[in-house]
Amino acid sequence: MIGTAGHQLRRARRADAPRIARLHAESWRRYYRGAYADAFLDGEVEADRRDEWSRRLQEPERGRTATILAEQGGSLLGFVHVIFDDDPTWGALVDNIHVAVAGQRSGLGTRLMTAAAEAVVERSAKSGLYVWVLEQNVPAQAFYQARGGRCVERAPAVAPGGVAGRLVGAPLKLRYVWPEAEALRR
Ligand SMILES: CC(C)(COP(=O)(O)OP(=O)(O)OC[C@H]1O[C@@H](n2cnc3c(N)ncnc32)[C@H](O)[C@@H]1OP(=O)(O)O)[C@@H](O)C(=O)NCCC(=O)NCCS
Repeated sequence: MIGTAGHQLRRARRADAPRIARLHAESWRRYYRGAYADAFLDGEVEADRRDEWSRRLQEPERGRTATILAEQGGSLLGFVHVIFDDDPTWGALVDNIHVAVAGQRSGLGTRLMTAAAEAVVERSAKSGLYVWVLEQNVPAQAFYQARGGRCVERAPAVAPGGVAGRLVGAPLKLRYVWPEAEALRR
């Protein structure tokens, strides 16, 4: 998959786990502070993300998920991870979408959402798509709204790795939905 703005999209491979983990950890440090504990963000977050991405990119996981990377000149600029058929009502889950600070507001997040929707529709033409976003993450909510997403639900955020001490208090998350993933391809 070749990009239109100097970046290229491709599916992630097992060897990409450490660099995805690095960008994921950097993004959490910058945007999730206040909801995720400082001790976690300043400590074990990168090791936690490395373990998670190594697990995700193992073969058995691959059939029910897709991870798409955006690169420019060999540098990782962003990624999206989607889990097919995750929810009986809302369909596929965009579990993570992150664009490096240097690449933001240039349409890359939009391209990654479109690529995720393409992967979903290829697999199941009528599938919906949804994301959870922290309530404090107002800029990401503006992005989902700009992409036509609708907020339908508020729920307690889940702690990374299921470790309650990694949360600050009891942050909330919002569910944004696209009843037809197809709509995101247009
Ligand atoms: C959210 C994110 C993926 C968006 O990616 P992006 O490449 O910056 O988004 P785009 O350039 O495609 O933006 C498309 C439109 O969304 C809206 N938008 C995007 N970022 C916005 C922001 N910070 N504030 C307000 N609106 C925003 C705008 O309408 C924008 O169009 P415009 O630039 O012409 O005004 C990216 O900012 C990011 O990685 N953020 C940090 C990690 C994160 O919060 N991920 C989501 C977790 S749920």
